[in-house]
Amino acid sequence: MKTIIEPFRIKAVEPITLTTREERHRLIAAAGNNLFLLKAEDVLIDLLTDSGTSAMSAEGWAAIMRGDESYAGARSWYRFHDAVHEVFGFEHVVPTHQGRAAERILFGVTVKEGNVVPNNTHFDTTRANIEYLGGKAVDIPCPEAADLDSDFPFKGNMDLEKLRELVDRHGAANIPMIMVTVTNNSGGGQPVSMANLRGIGEIAKRHGIPFYIDACRFAENAYFIKRRESGYADRSAREIAREMFSHADGCTMSAKKDAFANIGGFLCTNDAELATRERNLLILTEGFPTYGGMAGRDLDAIAVGLREVLDEHYLEYRLASTRYVVDRLTALGVPVARPAGGHAIYLDARRFLSHVPPHQYPGQALSVVLDREAGIRSVEIGTVMFGLDPNTGEERPARFDLVRLAVPRRVYTQSHMDYVLEALAEVWKNRERLGGMRIVEAPRVLRHFTARFEWLKEAGS
Ligand SMILES: Cc1ncc(COP(=O)(O)O)c(C=O)c1O
Repeated sequence: MKTIIEPFRIKAVEPITLTTREERHRLIAAAGNNLFLLKAEDVLIDLLTDSGTSAMSAEGWAAIMRGDESYAGARSWYRFHDAVHEVFGFEHVVPTHQGRAAERILFGVTVKEGNVVPNNTHFDTTRANIEYLGGKAVDIPCPEAADLDSDFPFKGNMDLEKLRELVDRHGAANIPMIMVTVTNNSGGGQPVSMANLRGIGEIAKRHGIPFYIDACRFAENAYFIKRRESGYADRSAREIAREMFSHADGCTMSAKKDAFANIGGFLCTNDAELATRERNLLILTEGFPTYGGMAGRDLDAIAVGLREVLDEHYLEYRLASTRYVVDRLTALGVPVARPAGGHAIYLDARRFLSHVPPHQYPGQALSVVLDREAGIRSVEIGTVMFGLDPNTGEERPARFDLVRLAVPRRVYTQSHMDYVLEALAEVWKNRERLGGMRIVEAPRVLRHFTARFEWLKEAGS
């Protein structure tokens, strides 16, 4: 059979609210045209994020009931620890309440003022946590990543030439770690090849710099390697994942992505002395090292999720879902990042609204209109998110103005995606009537979460 089906049956359902266009118009205006400030109950199809929004399995829910809530040394901790160790292979596991807490602890014990941390593309919380400590977060994606139309199979790769130059320019002593994000969320959800991970690992080792993987979507990345990189077709996603991490010294992980959990995260390292310093900081802000800010039931859910996500029928269906939308948008002529990434569809808002310049936030305008017209919540990944230098207060256009439609795992069906396609086709048809936006108020750090916007010209579609 050629049809790729959802490899599960639905056992519990959650109703969604069907709002009218007029209702959404009022609700979005009241939220200052910031979709983060909407009530979830007012959203029809919520593609704001794939983070913490997965549907858990019957096994995951059963694990929740097995949760051991003992303060220290709970059974849940050992089940969690064994699953993380089995999948990732690192010596030390430090549990945290989510990914950014792992980042804060890792950078808190390693990054000093003036240090430089390279990444293929830093996610917004990694960038903000490094910059908060006075470090410089530098993005060095491969050249192919700059071309949203290129079908290069590993556009998440890091530019190894630029990495070598960066190490020569700043010196290993000023680089507390090299990081790479799999898949590259802010760079279009594109995968990183094994060859690239191996190359980064070699450079890191040669200079004595630790190499960390931001592992949120490690299983999707592993499956892309299986499908696209020569020599991996007959290897299991699990083996490929282990090989990916064998090139690194540690990782940060948000379990809200590829562990199907609604909350949770962890930090891994092979360095015992570093792990001790991390645990000391963990006790100060997260909790005892056998729970680290999570309930025992969350630890158990993650242990199940980490094994489940490596099921290849699931991964095949997962990558087919985003590919389905991207292929149809391409056929309609809608500018969209290609090839399809793992967890999300990225519209090229700068080309979609080519008459709206970056300082008028085309991504924000497009995401607001999509919600207003069809109740679909997405997120701007562009000049609103990355355009402001928090140190100088200066604004510059981001590399891209994208709108991300993130697909929660196992939550929506193909007919939901067909509805999204119909809505996008309609907005695309009326794009010339849309104007740009301006920011009315915003904080300096992570402004996209709370900024308020107004239309420069009332969107007339
Ligand atoms: C690549 C990447 N790194 C880190 C994080 C932060 O994880 P969390 O939201 O659990 O703090 C995210 C979250 O979306 C992410 O996508």
